[in-house]
Amino acid sequence: MDINSSKWYPAIYTRRSRRSYRPDPIDPKLLNKMIKFCEHFRPFTNTRAVLILQQVDKAFRGIIGPSGAPAFIAFVGNVSDKHIQEKIGYMGEAIVLEATSLGLSTCWVGGFLRRNIIEEFVDADSREEVFGLTPIGYAKERTSVKESIMTGFGWTHRRRPLSKLVTGIAEEGWHEWTRSVLEAARLAPSATNRQPWKFHIGMDSITISTNETGHDFNLSKRLDCGIAMLHLEVAALNQGVHGIWELLETPEVARFTIDGM
Ligand SMILES: Cc1cc2nc3c(=O)[nH]c(=O)nc-3n(C[C@H](O)[C@H](O)[C@H](O)COP(=O)(O)O)c2cc1C
Repeated sequence: MDINSSKWYPAIYTRRSRRSYRPDPIDPKLLNKMIKFCEHFRPFTNTRAVLILQQVDKAFRGIIGPSGAPAFIAFVGNVSDKHIQEKIGYMGEAIVLEATSLGLSTCWVGGFLRRNIIEEFVDADSREEVFGLTPIGYAKERTSVKESIMTGFGWTHRRRPLSKLVTGIAEEGWHEWTRSVLEAARLAPSATNRQPWKFHIGMDSITISTNETGHDFNLSKRLDCGIAMLHLEVAALNQGVHGIWELLETPEVARFTIDGM
């Protein structure tokens, strides 16, 4: 199953984390599409996604986090894979953008997971762990007070400007598509909106890097960078630019090189 850039590129701009859901069941046609998508979208080895028809509230502890959705999708990976974090970010965000394009709401959740309960639902084997999840369903039309407080009244949707994120070749030397690709990567969601990425522009490549220090809620920044990788590639494909990923060692995460260079 391939990246559907014409559907997912607009979804990059419309997606927002939503945390208050109506309990309404998901339209069976959409539900079926999402179940199939989760089963078949496997861009990397050692990762999988499972849609679980249980209220999302059962999947984590505490009151911080999304509530009310009738289902959630768990992102599962093999812990012995040294690139598992970025692979999970990339796969999970494809699922988030597919759901967004179908009119469903989502929110990455990484903290306070009830891992034992979720791992039973997904029938995890001894090498697998749940790295995150998203509720799936219909967000309440009006943002609740709790949700407004949790998003800092919209603050968490703000992003740093590209000028603070980019190194390497100066803008005069960029391809005509480079700016839109970086813009899409910059809009990626990240845990606590920490935006831990840097983009190094080469002649025909973009390298994403991060420092792995200062984890929030014990969540790897490489996972956030995996989400940015997916946004970057969707935007590139939307401009007709194909590339290949090479996964790298910290502080680098991955390099996207235009195919055929
Ligand atoms: C890996 C990851 C983990 C996250 N964990 C949580 C969480 O535990 N609880 C929560 O309410 N939001 C969580 N979020 C959502 C972020 O807070 C949100 O994506 C960020 O503030 C940007 O806002 P936006 O998604 O509306 O653009 C997480 C996001 C990511 C990418």
